[in-house]
Amino acid sequence: MNKKIISLIIAIIVIAVGVSIWLISSNKDNNNLNSNANINENNDIANAEENTADTEISSRKKIAIIYFSATGTTRKVAEYIKELTAGDLIEIVPKEKYTDSDLNYSNSDSRATREQNNSSARPEIANNIDADSYDVIFLGYPIWWGNAPRIILTFLDNHDLNGKTLIPFCTSGSSGISTSENYFKNNYKNINWLDGKRLEVSQSEVTAWVNSLNY
Ligand SMILES: Cc1cc2nc3c(=O)[nH]c(=O)nc-3n(C[C@H](O)[C@H](O)[C@H](O)COP(=O)(O)O)c2cc1C
Repeated sequence: MNKKIISLIIAIIVIAVGVSIWLISSNKDNNNLNSNANINENNDIANAEENTADTEISSRKKIAIIYFSATGTTRKVAEYIKELTAGDLIEIVPKEKYTDSDLNYSNSDSRATREQNNSSARPEIANNIDADSYDVIFLGYPIWWGNAPRIILTFLDNHDLNGKTLIPFCTSGSSGISTSENYFKNNYKNINWLDGKRLEVSQSEVTAWVNSLNY
């Protein structure tokens, strides 16, 4: 073989090896770029998911439905509200249960009538109600002589509800909520009162009302 041919073969081998090395290294760079891009993309998705979770946590408020019900009507409405809001249902249980004769509004000397006629009456509550951990409290009661039963005032007097949002609701034979609602707004001014409503035991009425609230 002459010298020229040998030099040519060597030159071709050198070029081929060079090109191969270049191709391998540029492929490696591309892989690195791609994997970096994937890592960045994954980080972005993780960050976005974390931000969404934070927003959901901050907008999720703790809700309670705290109610007194002597004969079960207000309880049914309270249960509907619980289903709609996924809040905690808490009953205000009187230390001394109201008997039928206690509730006899035809008798001017019945226990309920006497309590309603005495603005400082505060019937005792039997159970320990933890209102502290809630941001929003639906407060339910029957109307007694046009107003909220005094045991509701026992609850309001004995808990620090400063800055919390309270939403009154009531059931009644026919009387509205305004007398009791105005009493709350005028006498417990440190509470953020939303407008309340007298409700029938009607799932559709309760649903429409709860959905209309902005709390
Ligand atoms: C002592 C007493 C007084 C009442 N006063 C009124 C009243 O002033 N206006 C009215 O519409 N209903 C009045 N009611 C009817 C109740 O508000 C009504 O039956 C209510 O839905 C009962 O709720 P509960 O079952 O949760 O206790 C009175 C009931 C009682 C026992």
